[in-house]
Amino acid sequence: MSEEETRYFSKDFEWEELREEVEKDLSLRYHLLPIESSIPFSSSSSPVANQSEAWKSFHNRHSTGRFFKERRYLLKEFPELLSCHESSKVLEVGCGNGSTVLPILRGKQSIAVYACDCSKGALDRAKEMIDAADGILIKDRFHPFVCDFSLNGFPKWLVCDSCRRGSLQKYHDFPSGGNKSNEMELNELSSNRDHCCIGVLDFITLIFTLASLPFQKMPTALEDCISVLKPGGLLLFRDYGLYDMTMLRFPLEQRVGFREYTRSGGTLSCFFCLDTVRDLFVGAGFVVLELEYCCIKSVNRRNGKQMRRVWVHGKFQKPL
Ligand SMILES: C[S@@+](CC[C@H](N)C(=O)[O-])C[C@H]1O[C@@H](n2cnc3c(N)ncnc32)[C@H](O)[C@@H]1O
Repeated sequence: MSEEETRYFSKDFEWEELREEVEKDLSLRYHLLPIESSIPFSSSSSPVANQSEAWKSFHNRHSTGRFFKERRYLLKEFPELLSCHESSKVLEVGCGNGSTVLPILRGKQSIAVYACDCSKGALDRAKEMIDAADGILIKDRFHPFVCDFSLNGFPKWLVCDSCRRGSLQKYHDFPSGGNKSNEMELNELSSNRDHCCIGVLDFITLIFTLASLPFQKMPTALEDCISVLKPGGLLLFRDYGLYDMTMLRFPLEQRVGFREYTRSGGTLSCFFCLDTVRDLFVGAGFVVLELEYCCIKSVNRRNGKQMRRVWVHGKFQKPL
């Protein structure tokens, strides 16, 4: 079991203390400087352009599929994925090789997982890993599809325009809308459709994927996410937090935006503070249920050095 899994739930240090330390350290000052407007964010030669291609190359280079490990802690962090109704539908966005899909499929035998990635190679590997996993009956439960959700959003066969527009209205049209049988009515809503699409989703998981998008694409991407969720549905979020050790290790040359860095293979990583995450999700129409830093100390086995990891944990709901 990795150090991330064993220590995921503890809070080993206060994020505010780390912030003070980083902001006082002159050698780290370049991470805090304003970004010059001359950085060509949107031109095709920009380091942040063509993220899909960079991710496809990444997955081709890591074709053993072992680069991402199964996120065994996921169901402890997001127990809703276990306590949900029997025919719940989840969309895992940017599923990679299935590190997040696998524990969800294992955890609840009736749940269906739709999983997209911009890389077909990643999806092929996810399917192989899930086929090979013990104890998972995946027949009709795992539905991978290629999609760059930062370009055109999600396909209509997933959730059609009328379901996206109508779910809220139809919900309010139910005679007892807002009363105790909400869940039953919403399930009925999902199953009473004309099958042009699968219908609005119960959950979206966005686990270390949002940070891969250029910052200016995030608001639209989140609007697409909320449009395919059912009213009351949850978006479960985990991503890199501000002043995570991996951020502080980036050299100046790899800084491409405010709290945005490009890795050597060209993939992008953004490091979020809570205010930014709140603004992004509230701006897209979500209600914040949980939002906090997860601050974990771990030790690098090779050199014995201590590493301070920071992640952002969030749970967001589409309003009823
Ligand atoms: C850090 S991995 C996270 C994978 C997975 N969610 C997990 O829990 O391990 C980010 C994934 O997002 C995918 N990705 C990046 N940008 C994307 C986009 N615009 N649309 C769809 N997938 C994207 C990448 O190919 C990669 O597999």
